[in-house]
Amino acid sequence: MRLLFLLGVLGGAIMVTSQTPTVADLQKEVDHLQQTLGGLSRQMMLQQLFVEERIRSDGGSGVKQIRNNAGGSKTYYHDTFAGRGFLSVHEHSNYDRTIGLGEFIGVLNGVEFRTRHNDYKLKRPSTTSSDYHKTEDIPFPDVPPSVLNKKTVAEQVTEMQEYFRAFHNQDIKIRDYRPYFKPVLCYVEGAWTTNTKTLDEPFQSDRHFIDATSWFDLQEKIRFMSATGSKNQFENLSYLPTTIINVTESGEPVYAQWNYRILCHPIKYNLKLADLKPVDDLSTRMNFMQNMTKFARDSKGARFTVAPTSGNHYTSDGYGTYTDSHQTHVTLDKIMNEIPGVDNYPGKDSDDSFGLMKNRIDIKEPTQLNTAYYYRHYKVQNPGAMGLLNRHVGYSDPTLWTATTKNPKVAAVSVNDCTRDPKTHKMGCKIYTVRSTYAIPLEIIWMTPLSKWNPHNLKLYTNRNEFHKVTDGGRNGGVTAAKAFNGTSFANYYLTPSIFFHGGEANRDPADTAKDVVGVLDQHGQVQRVSASGYRIFTPEIPNVGKVRIRYPIAPAHQEGGVPWKNLMALQDIVMDMKKYEKMFEAAPAISGGASSNGHKPDTHYITSTTHDDPPGMHVHDVYLTEEEMTALKHGATVSAYTTEDNGHQHELVITMDPHLQGRTNRLKITTCDGLRNCWDHHNNALYVKTD
Ligand SMILES: *[C@@H]1O[C@H](CO)[C@@H](O)[C@H](O)[C@H]1NC(C)=O
Ligand SMILES: *[C@@H]1O[C@H](CO)[C@@H](O)[C@H](O)[C@H]1NC(C)=O
Ligand SMILES: *[C@@H]1O[C@H](CO)[C@@H](O)[C@H](O)[C@H]1NC(C)=O
Ligand SMILES: *[C@@H]1O[C@H](CO)[C@@H](O)[C@H](O)[C@H]1NC(C)=O
Repeated sequence: MRLLFLLGVLGGAIMVTSQTPTVADLQKEVDHLQQTLGGLSRQMMLQQLFVEERIRSDGGSGVKQIRNNAGGSKTYYHDTFAGRGFLSVHEHSNYDRTIGLGEFIGVLNGVEFRTRHNDYKLKRPSTTSSDYHKTEDIPFPDVPPSVLNKKTVAEQVTEMQEYFRAFHNQDIKIRDYRPYFKPVLCYVEGAWTTNTKTLDEPFQSDRHFIDATSWFDLQEKIRFMSATGSKNQFENLSYLPTTIINVTESGEPVYAQWNYRILCHPIKYNLKLADLKPVDDLSTRMNFMQNMTKFARDSKGARFTVAPTSGNHYTSDGYGTYTDSHQTHVTLDKIMNEIPGVDNYPGKDSDDSFGLMKNRIDIKEPTQLNTAYYYRHYKVQNPGAMGLLNRHVGYSDPTLWTATTKNPKVAAVSVNDCTRDPKTHKMGCKIYTVRSTYAIPLEIIWMTPLSKWNPHNLKLYTNRNEFHKVTDGGRNGGVTAAKAFNGTSFANYYLTPSIFFHGGEANRDPADTAKDVVGVLDQHGQVQRVSASGYRIFTPEIPNVGKVRIRYPIAPAHQEGGVPWKNLMALQDIVMDMKKYEKMFEAAPAISGGASSNGHKPDTHYITSTTHDDPPGMHVHDVYLTEEEMTALKHGATVSAYTTEDNGHQHELVITMDPHLQGRTNRLKITTCDGLRNCWDHHNNALYVKTD
């Protein structure tokens, strides 16, 4: 095809010179055009890289914007990544495991994409198979035996309410709720995929025409929607970019298709509600004129962060708090490390690109990192100076987690690394090939025993061919024998006695499809009044308990990774608590009530002794200890801390108070350095305070 076309073009050109071209001439010309085409394809690939690089430094991996349906005279009357709901969260609690989530624009490692209306399900990667995109339902938590053992429905209701009261107050003295309220982390995973030949050569094969047109079709529809500014009625179009991922030796472009999915993972880490702290979002609060207490407690637009170590001061508003500090490897990393990439839970992989094996950051002894699970930090042995290097994934991206796979359905990048052997002085080359997927956390959802609790023993149809029986004969869930549903199914998941909740559903939204109370015929033909048992953002008011938050959005925002946002947050913190940050003002603002002394204490700055060992050359390291770490030291505890990286390495120190100094902190004792008695490069075993 292409050759014929080229001949045509050449024919035209050659007519002018009125010479008959020889085969050699034509071959030369074809070679030339092929080279030009290869060069152009490569330039297009680099153009995509250029765009990604620009986005990577403008912000981090995170969510960016939802579809705006609002308006007004202030810019913050328009939605950001939050409107009434963060990422347009809503409820489909009449489904057994559907989580209502609208459309949004997100960024993963510099790739911006737009999702369709998400409404994902509580599913996890396969626990038994590494097959591509194989998933399974997350098991629902059990119903506490003390509920099941009660004789009447009313008694079961009262007992179940006690479990919700215990969960809501995080009080195991009321009931040990922990085995029955299980948190899952739902996350967005994205990757450049190459799953069929069709995508490599999109329009050249009849056999693969249909697959190709489906991507093509999607692109055309998105282009049309974007050009006209209109909305797809059903919100089922997503914008997923296509890229040239490589150009072969012969100049052929290799295409890759961006794709994403949302899955959930049952958290193993012992997470508590106190570990979740609300994030102030001034534009959303101003939009809806809510103070912080109201916003955090009652708003679907609220977002949370996970305590780096452990949260405290839990209030029955559903969240806790923690003191902000500089920290690297935090609770969220531990949880993300539990989540596999596309090889699913059996996944096992490693990455030794450039001869540097990636090791776990959370273990002192070099321990190979399983890169088939999501990670944000790793540790390599510095081959030159033997020291350790802690590495953060991404150049400046604060919230990029990545995992690797060998699955050819994920696009590969490769690099040829040639180095000279220090002994033989011979050049040796090695090709490293890596296939990466990327992920960010989206929300934490507490699975509850309501999912399985069926005290009326209502029939649950699980066979798809039988779902219609629930609604046959125009049954719509009315509370009469004629209109009540005849049994339940995954899409009519009404099992909870309505007396369990008090009043209507909390915070109804146009997208909430659940009805407050429906009638369902039990197996004796009696109408039972029941409520939806699927997943809500907040439960309705439960007597003696109140409404209970079930979903905690925790997604990072793309903009948070950019410099303007960082300044804005600093300004926000200062302005929102001028007393606390009075020291930040050159001219103190006149604040009624005067300044208080509860300001955030700066970190205490220490330095190591200077070493003159060469390698690595003369240097000192800085160590910064937080107020809490200082308090711990004063109480006789040992504290682990990383030094700064100097001369190509850093140290992991275990520190205590120097017993000879009787409580003074101008000098501290290093008890171990990288797990050894002394630092390998001979810093002495003291840290010295440095007044900045
Ligand atoms: C789009 O979504 C609607 C309902 O949400 C559905 O009926 C329709 O089949 C979908 N269209 C495509 C092309 O997926
Ligand atoms: C990309 O193409 C180059 C040739 O231009 C080739 O050497 C390399 O192996 C390819 N990379 C991958 C991951 O296929
Ligand atoms: C926050 O707003 C709620 C009602 O919207 C009000 O009851 C509460 O007192 C307010 N809190 C503060 C600290 O102003
Ligand atoms: C409800 O469904 C069951 C099982 O299919 C059936 O035996 C029963 O007659 C139905 N009840 C009514 C009132 O239609």
